[in-house]
Amino acid sequence: MAEVSFVLDRDSEEPLYRQLIRQIKLQIESGQLPAGTRLPASRELAEQIDISRISVVNAYAELRAEGYLSAHAGRGTFVSRMNNSGSYAPDAPRVRTHATQEMPALSADYSLRDMMRLSARKDVINFSHGSPPPEFYPIQQLRDAINYVLERDGSAALGYERLEGFPPLRAAVRDYVSGLGILCSAESVLITGGAQQGLDLIVQSLLNEGDTLITTNPTYLGLLDTARARRVQVHAIPQDDDGIRLDLLENYLYDHKAKLIYVMPSFHNPTGTVMPLHRRRQLINLAREHRVPIVEDAVYHELRFEGESQPTLKSLDEGDTVIHLSAFTKMLLPGLRIGYVIAGSSYMERLIRIKQAADISTSGLNQRAMHWLMQRGVLAAQLARNNRELKRRYYAALAAAERYLPQGTTWNKPEGGLYLWVCLPKSGPTAAELFMNAVKHQVTFAIGSVFFTNNAGSHNLRINFSLQRPELIEEGFKRIGIAWQELTQDNQDYMEKKPIL
Ligand SMILES: Cc1ncc(COP(=O)(O)O)c(C=O)c1O
Repeated sequence: MAEVSFVLDRDSEEPLYRQLIRQIKLQIESGQLPAGTRLPASRELAEQIDISRISVVNAYAELRAEGYLSAHAGRGTFVSRMNNSGSYAPDAPRVRTHATQEMPALSADYSLRDMMRLSARKDVINFSHGSPPPEFYPIQQLRDAINYVLERDGSAALGYERLEGFPPLRAAVRDYVSGLGILCSAESVLITGGAQQGLDLIVQSLLNEGDTLITTNPTYLGLLDTARARRVQVHAIPQDDDGIRLDLLENYLYDHKAKLIYVMPSFHNPTGTVMPLHRRRQLINLAREHRVPIVEDAVYHELRFEGESQPTLKSLDEGDTVIHLSAFTKMLLPGLRIGYVIAGSSYMERLIRIKQAADISTSGLNQRAMHWLMQRGVLAAQLARNNRELKRRYYAALAAAERYLPQGTTWNKPEGGLYLWVCLPKSGPTAAELFMNAVKHQVTFAIGSVFFTNNAGSHNLRINFSLQRPELIEEGFKRIGIAWQELTQDNQDYMEKKPIL
């Protein structure tokens, strides 16, 4: 019988049996509970994790109905085998993806939801979310901005805003991106609810159900979510140290029709890769030759704390191949939800129609406040300040990684962005196994496999070093080291656990 362990959050609004269901699924999907494993009897598990027996009975029943578990009279409850199409649920709705990379619809987010929920607890050192340093949010300036805007615009600030965006903000974005070499008119700027909405609008406007979009493997999880939700196929191409592999991309484009290429040329999420200039130019040429538009997701472009910046793809594009997507979320305030798409007129009209169907308009109050923050130099000052702090936290993370991560672990050395991309020794526990134990030590990170389309990355983790002060970065890595040591049962006294929260 399996040694199982589940971490339930008794303060959560989510019922305990639901938490149990998700955690059992997570452990099955991550391979921690392999097919054929016998689970404890309901009474036994209820006692072990201190919940009512009926909660366990309900959880098992639902997991049986979904095909994750099967019951054998008199013998117990067992983890099922996956069916031929790679899913536990026999007739789960499926997203059509590239033949070699089929994914069950919306399955990867079990682990993401678990990560988010567990990381949100106050006592946890959270390395998993992609936010800038929260202590640095310009709260007073935002208060001033909102007061000013309400005083100046009154009810106009609280009505429906123009579909394309608040005109002065569109003009301010035009001026702002001219500093990145992008020369465009204000009419080419569409204001969106963060970069995520921009991405979703682009996918909806360029692809029909079943069409293919190309990205890197691994890639941004939000892109995979959008692709699943919009039922488009994803063809993910491996990358090297310079970004997407153009030889593989070219081979694919010769034989297949793709509708869109999605890349993050500066500080790729999750690997931190930056595409050098020659690769940027070659990518644009290749895409132009095959008449496939590129989305350049540039949300991390300005988060450089060392080295020389590369030109944006859009600034190198002499035609209309590149759509530039970015936001003031990672640069300033995630919760204001202001992003933008810069696209030529051939794309813009359709994007605007889809934006209308999506949400009518992005909050006018927030757009006006953002405009004020740009005009008063708050954005520029804050970016410089954030980048100085990111550098400090990055070096704290490097030192802590060196000190506490197990021997044989490797990680990248980015010159910007928010993340360390870590690869654990392949002979040891997986990142999902480490995560389950790390949570008990009140530290979380993002499990690498969620960024891949083909179940790769089992030994990768992504650590966001920007969210914690240096002393908590040190403590967080220390706890990850302890969690690892416990799993490998090697030298239990490796480090003394001293919670400092
Ligand atoms: C590469 C990338 N693009 C887009 C987003 C979404 O950002 P926003 O908060 O602006 O919607 C994220 C957030 O993590 C991201 O990492």
